[in-house]
Amino acid sequence: MKILGIESSCDETALALVEDGRKVLSTNLTSQDVHTLYGGVIPEIAAREHLRMIHPLYKKTLADADMSPEDIDAIAVTQGPGLIGALLVGVSFAKGLATTLRKPLIPVNHVHAHVHGALLGIPENIRREELFPSLALVVSGGHTHLYFMNTPMQFQLLASSQDDACGECFDKVAKLLGLGYPGGAAIEALAREGDETKVVMPKMMDEKEQMAFSYSGLKTHVLYLIQKEQLPIPSQRRKDICAAFQKEAIGQIVRKLQTAHSLHPNVRSIIVSGGVAANHYFRQAVKEACPIPSYFPDQKYCSDNAAMIATYAWFRYRNSTSEQFHNLDWDAFAKYQHAAQ
Ligand code: KG4
Ligand code: ZN
Repeated sequence: MKILGIESSCDETALALVEDGRKVLSTNLTSQDVHTLYGGVIPEIAAREHLRMIHPLYKKTLADADMSPEDIDAIAVTQGPGLIGALLVGVSFAKGLATTLRKPLIPVNHVHAHVHGALLGIPENIRREELFPSLALVVSGGHTHLYFMNTPMQFQLLASSQDDACGECFDKVAKLLGLGYPGGAAIEALAREGDETKVVMPKMMDEKEQMAFSYSGLKTHVLYLIQKEQLPIPSQRRKDICAAFQKEAIGQIVRKLQTAHSLHPNVRSIIVSGGVAANHYFRQAVKEACPIPSYFPDQKYCSDNAAMIATYAWFRYRNSTSEQFHNLDWDAFAKYQHAAQ
């Protein structure tokens, strides 16, 4: 079954064709660099950019897979959460396509799709169901969610951020250090040459029973720290700040993961996804902290992409009655709680 995935929740327009939930036939994406001018995503501009890019990317995605529109078996699209204007472009395009081609349309929760995107590269001989029960993390610019998943479709939220998301905090600290937007990868690169012991950072949510994340205090700590520094901050000092910040930004996630593991000792795997999953220090820290197999996406599937939308849609389609996906009377939702599975 070949599913066309469409993703337009934030500042990436992405389309992909995935066969049977595993084989990526083609995948295309444009990042809207225009937002770097403003140091953050401007929703109105994002929606207009999606509108400009979605049709050319659709044609390219089909051409790359050497397919015609009639070869598509179903369409999947991000229903939410995200920027509402941006989501509406993808959803409207998908509804138009589903109507014209008379194919099922599968609405997908973007955050849940991240988890399944991390499983795109698992070896052929492993069935997705075998990895569950699992602890799943989605750590991105918009979310810091830790789930217990008894099955591939059950998302029980154990912890989320009570303020900023982890990736958002990386971006804000990067901005304070003049590293551009988005700044997660730049911080990781500098941190590699820094000494994390040279700068003290507050330990956030350190109480074992506090099942939540917090990043605004960490960001404010870095702000005050920088205000006391000599300017421009010497190169090695910047690296040390990045290393100490990264240690705590990741450290609190790993602490909560360990608590979750002690609460659910029967889990068979840890699945880590979202843009921050690209971070090598994070990958290493998770592997060292929990002695069960951990799965991270291929670098190209860490950030927002459409292959994750298509692979999760395939899984949902297989486990539902197909009639439900012929109903187009549904809306896009900005908020996580209101979006589909
Ligand atoms: O999943 P994603 O592409 O978009 C959202 O749904 O938010 O995540 C983007 C986030 C940004 O905040 C970016 O700075 C962060 O992921 N990120 C990283 C790294 N690469 C991307 N954070 C830390 N280390 C990295 N290597
Ligand atoms: Zn995302």
